[in-house]
This record gives sequence, C-alpha cells and structure tokens, in this order.
Amino acid sequence: MTTREQSVLNISLPVVIRIATQDDLPRLEWYGQYIHFRNLFRRAYRDQQLGTRLMLVADCNGFPIGHVFMLFLDDGEGNRQGYLYSLRVMEMFHSRGIGTGLLIEAEAQLATRGYDHITIAAAKTNPAARRLYERLGYKVFTDDKGEWSYTDHLGKVRHVTEPCWLLQKTITLR
Ligand SMILES: CC(C)(COP(=O)(O)OP(=O)(O)OC[C@H]1O[C@@H](n2cnc3c(N)ncnc32)[C@H](O)[C@@H]1OP(=O)(O)O)[C@@H](O)C(=O)NCCC(=O)NCCS
Repeated sequence: MTTREQSVLNISLPVVIRIATQDDLPRLEWYGQYIHFRNLFRRAYRDQQLGTRLMLVADCNGFPIGHVFMLFLDDGEGNRQGYLYSLRVMEMFHSRGIGTGLLIEAEAQLATRGYDHITIAAAKTNPAARRLYERLGYKVFTDDKGEWSYTDHLGKVRHVTEPCWLLQKTITLR
C-alpha cells in the first residue's frame, strides 16, 4: 500500500476585537455548546444597550471565536470599577494570544470610561486562567465561594458552585 504524505496548509486569519452586535447573539452559543447561556447573552446585550455592560468579541471572519464581558460598577461615591467575566476562547484557537488580546482591549475600554480598578475571577480549578491574569498584572486579593445561578434556554434554573480567586488590577489611561 502506498501512503501519501499529509498536506499542510499554513493559513493566517485576521482576528478583530470589537464590541458585540445583536447578530453575534446566536453565534455566541457556538453551535449549541453554550446554548444554556442564551439568556445570559441576551441580558448582557440588553445591558450593553443600557450602558451598564459591554461585550467584546474576538471576530474571525465574522464569527465570534472568543469573548469577554464587563460590568460597570459605580457606587456613586467615586468608586468606579469594572468586573470582567465570561472570558472564553474556542479551544482550537487557544494559546495564540486571543485571550490576552481580549483582556487588553477590555482594559482600554474601561480606562477610556474612567474606570481605574478591574476585578476578575479565576476558578481555583483553573490555574491557566490565574497565570494569564497574573501575567497581565492582576493580583489575588481574596477568594470567593463562586455561587451563582442562571436560567437556561429551557427555563430551568441552574445553580453553579465554582470556588474562585478574585484578582484585581489598577489601570491608567494610556
Ligand atoms: C483562559 C482562556 C480564555 C485563555 O485564552 P487563550 O486565547 O488561550 O489565551 P492566550 O493565548 O492569550 O494565553 C494562553 C497561553 O498561550 C500563550 N501564548 C499567547 N500567545 C501565544 C502565541 N502566539 N504562541 C504560543 N503561545 C502563546 C500564553 O503565554 C499563555 O501561556 P501559559 O498557558 O503558559 O500561561 C482559554 O484557555 C479559555 O477559553 N479557557 C476556557 C474558559 C476559561 O477557563 N475562561 C476563564 C474563566 S476563569
């Protein structure tokens, strides 16, 4: 039997970090993998329209292959901080700097809005995420039980318990 060598195509694809649009909402489910977060995506988008959250996506050929969301927290007494959450990159695109790129753009978005503190959580079972945040200058300041719940696409309330480290960073406008 003759064996043919594998052909290898080296392709480079542009990845653009941009603010999510309504058209991204179904695509954020990644063909069903995150269908259970449908209501969370929709609520985040509604809040983005109200100006209380922002959703950033890493767009590759029109498809959101990664994302990070942020919540703007303002206690009315001068304390303004951003909470970053839902950082995720499609597995086949890991370790190419997309997660880092999303975080850097999120920081820039917060800085231009006058937010100087950023908080982010890393699950205790996720040392890679903690390493990424620490490399970008975030420091652990406490831990949390990580208990929260959401209503899935079928209307079922799902409870999540994911103990995590909370990390913080102070940013300045560049
Ligand atoms: C955490 C997560 C968002 C990181 O995304 P990512 O795109 O892989 O992140 P980056 O590529 O910027 O960095 C990851 C690693 O790749 C390395 N890297 C970055 N650019 C690279 C490049 N061009 N070539 C090779 N390696 C690279 C980084 O140094 C880092 O290395 P490390 O794991 O040794 O620390 C991703 O792993 C993910 O989606 N995980 C599942 C969801 C999750 O855990 N989210 C965090 C919630 S707490």
